[in-house]
Amino acid sequence: MKSFTSLALGLVSLTSAVSGTAIVRDSFKAPAPGPGQASSIYNGANNGTLKNGPIVPGKSFDRIINIWLENTDFEDAATLSQFQKVAEQGVLFDSYYAVTHPSEPNYMASAFGDFFGLGDDDFWYIPNNITSLFDVLNDGKVSWACYEENMPFTGYQQFNYSQPNYVSSNATKPYTYYVRKHNPCAFAQEAGTNADYAIRNRNFNDFAADLNASTLPQWMFITPNMVDDAHDSTIQYAGNWTDWWLLPLLDNPKFNDNRTLILLTFDENEDYGENNRIFTVALGGGLPANLKNTTDSTYYTHYSSISTVEANWGLKNLGRGDVQKGMNNVFDWVATATGFKNENLTGDAIPFTNLTGIFNGPFNPDQTTLFYAPNDTNVIGAGGQAVLVKDGLDKSITLATVKPVNMTAMHTVSPFDSISHEYATANPVAVGGNRAVNATTGSAASLSSKDGASSIVINLSLLAVVGVSSMAVLL
Ligand SMILES: *[C@@H]1O[C@H](CO)[C@@H](O)[C@H](O)[C@H]1NC(C)=O
Ligand SMILES: *[C@@H]1O[C@H](CO)[C@@H](O)[C@H](O)[C@H]1NC(C)=O
Ligand SMILES: *[C@@H]1O[C@H](CO)[C@@H](O)[C@H](O)[C@H]1NC(C)=O
Ligand SMILES: *[C@@H]1O[C@H](CO)[C@@H](O)[C@H](O)[C@H]1NC(C)=O
Ligand SMILES: *[C@@H]1O[C@H](CO)[C@@H](O)[C@H](O)[C@H]1NC(C)=O
Ligand SMILES: *[C@@H]1O[C@H](CO)[C@@H](O)[C@H](O)[C@H]1NC(C)=O
Ligand SMILES: *[C@@H]1O[C@H](CO)[C@@H](O)[C@H](O)[C@H]1NC(C)=O
Ligand SMILES: *[C@@H]1O[C@H](CO)[C@@H](O)[C@H](O)[C@H]1NC(C)=O
Ligand SMILES: *[C@@H]1O[C@H](CO)[C@@H](O)[C@H](O)[C@H]1NC(C)=O
Ligand SMILES: *[C@@H]1O[C@H](CO)[C@@H](O)[C@H](O)[C@H]1NC(C)=O
Ligand SMILES: *[C@@H]1O[C@H](CO)[C@@H](O)[C@H](O)[C@H]1NC(C)=O
Ligand SMILES: *[C@@H]1O[C@H](CO)[C@@H](O)[C@H](O)[C@H]1NC(C)=O
Repeated sequence: MKSFTSLALGLVSLTSAVSGTAIVRDSFKAPAPGPGQASSIYNGANNGTLKNGPIVPGKSFDRIINIWLENTDFEDAATLSQFQKVAEQGVLFDSYYAVTHPSEPNYMASAFGDFFGLGDDDFWYIPNNITSLFDVLNDGKVSWACYEENMPFTGYQQFNYSQPNYVSSNATKPYTYYVRKHNPCAFAQEAGTNADYAIRNRNFNDFAADLNASTLPQWMFITPNMVDDAHDSTIQYAGNWTDWWLLPLLDNPKFNDNRTLILLTFDENEDYGENNRIFTVALGGGLPANLKNTTDSTYYTHYSSISTVEANWGLKNLGRGDVQKGMNNVFDWVATATGFKNENLTGDAIPFTNLTGIFNGPFNPDQTTLFYAPNDTNVIGAGGQAVLVKDGLDKSITLATVKPVNMTAMHTVSPFDSISHEYATANPVAVGGNRAVNATTGSAASLSSKDGASSIVINLSLLAVVGVSSMAVLL
């Protein structure tokens, strides 16, 4: 029943990712007067500025800004002048790999150190006993936020958001600019139940406010909208966005100072038939000057962006990809500065990470497991510390002990898959009261029915209870 729907959706999204659907043929249109300015095109008004604690000094940098573009083979970015220009400002990593396909599991991996078997872009959520990088950062008092272009309001939890098409002037239908699958701050159950967490799931009008008020946090994730990130457009379009957005911000000391590291990367490559190498540049005033306009061929993955952060601030770890030797290599100069030993992989030793949907895990309908604990919670990570463990974690359930079941064959659906795509409206603490605010007028904006703003569908706590009991029956 339900499972067939999600299977079909999975196939559709896989096909479009493989064939590289490029819907928008128009040339780049600036969505705002400037990268640090609010825009009515973003609909949602800014909801205050972030309140962060004192700056926690890092061993190599005090701020890291992750910027993710979409679905591009290494060569396709490397041969474009816009990206060559960016590379000249920093160090080009030419052996940097995404961890799987399609998009969502990569965004998940960037914040959770695992993708829990996920091989699609559906509406999944991660329960409270499973740590994220955000928990690790909180534990070290390092402030963080995601900034999502065209997300209508702070703490938004819906599957996507559509609004009038600002790119094609003759378009008649609303366009989907924001998608949850590209937002690492939206995957945890806590994103909808903890106001302190939800306030850090922010939009680009919030970015403008935080930038101008000097309240940007120490760890940031930037998700451009579906055309600006190349997903629905072309790499040339995203190159023009990068020119327009990133280059001026490099000269803005409220964004980039001499302790700022910027990581421009891609979620995954485009061609599933090749290994998953992605164009990645580290730049910013916090990059050692001698590395500017150089290439580093050390093997890195999305897990490196976690272990590098752990090493920099001496943080606890997640006990997942962030402690997996080789895949967790720390950016070379940070490894040197923190005494971390990398295991460089070259040639045939580089694992294939172009594998999709074949892994056991709670998010694989065909090989579903319970949410598992890290293999070893005593393992010391790049920060020189052990695993951060949250309440409610059963350490006896690990990837080695879980027994997968085929939920597809059983015609049932994981309790962690909100196939209605709308559980979030049942969450009481959504910041901004689940109302989009019109950035121009300050009054409530009208949302299309697609946004599900008025429907209450699934209650999370009920899901959790159902989850535990139905899984118990299955196992
Ligand atoms: C990118 O910018 C260049 C230079 O302005 C322009 O010639 C080109 O058409 C633009 N391409 C896209 C896809 O926006
Ligand atoms: C980067 O290096 C190349 C050649 O190695 C040089 O032509 C170019 O001017 C350099 N760019 C910058 C911004 O230093
Ligand atoms: C808009 O008009 C141009 C030029 O006629 C056409 O190529 C394009 O397909 C139109 N776009 C839409 C979304 O209708
Ligand atoms: C970094 O910037 C700070 C503040 O502007 C300044 O005091 C310091 O001297 C700079 N350090 C270096 C190495 O440039
Ligand atoms: C992954 O990439 C390798 C090397 O290019 C290729 O041989 C293999 O067929 C690809 N795997 C899949 C599942 O496409
Ligand atoms: C990793 O291996 C590549 C390829 O041999 C090499 O270019 C790079 O310098 C190595 N990195 C380190 C840190 O040894
Ligand atoms: C984590 O919590 C979920 C939801 O309550 C539960 O199904 C799962 O078994 C727990 N996993 C571990 C390792 O504690
Ligand atoms: C944990 O153990 C499983 C096998 O039981 C292995 O596949 C996985 O790579 C291990 N994870 C880490 C982070 O070492
Ligand atoms: C799970 O069940 C489905 C439907 O019966 C089947 O197509 C699929 O091959 C099974 N997968 C595994 C890993 O057993
Ligand atoms: C947006 O969400 C709706 C409701 O879940 C879904 O039907 C639609 O396919 C989604 N569109 C995109 C482009 O993600
Ligand atoms: C901002 O968030 C608070 C909750 O933190 C909420 O009460 C308020 O309505 C929001 N304001 C706007 C303009 O969305
Ligand atoms: C916001 O207000 C402006 C001016 O009244 C209006 O044109 C626009 O459609 C509104 N946007 C939304 C999403 O309601």
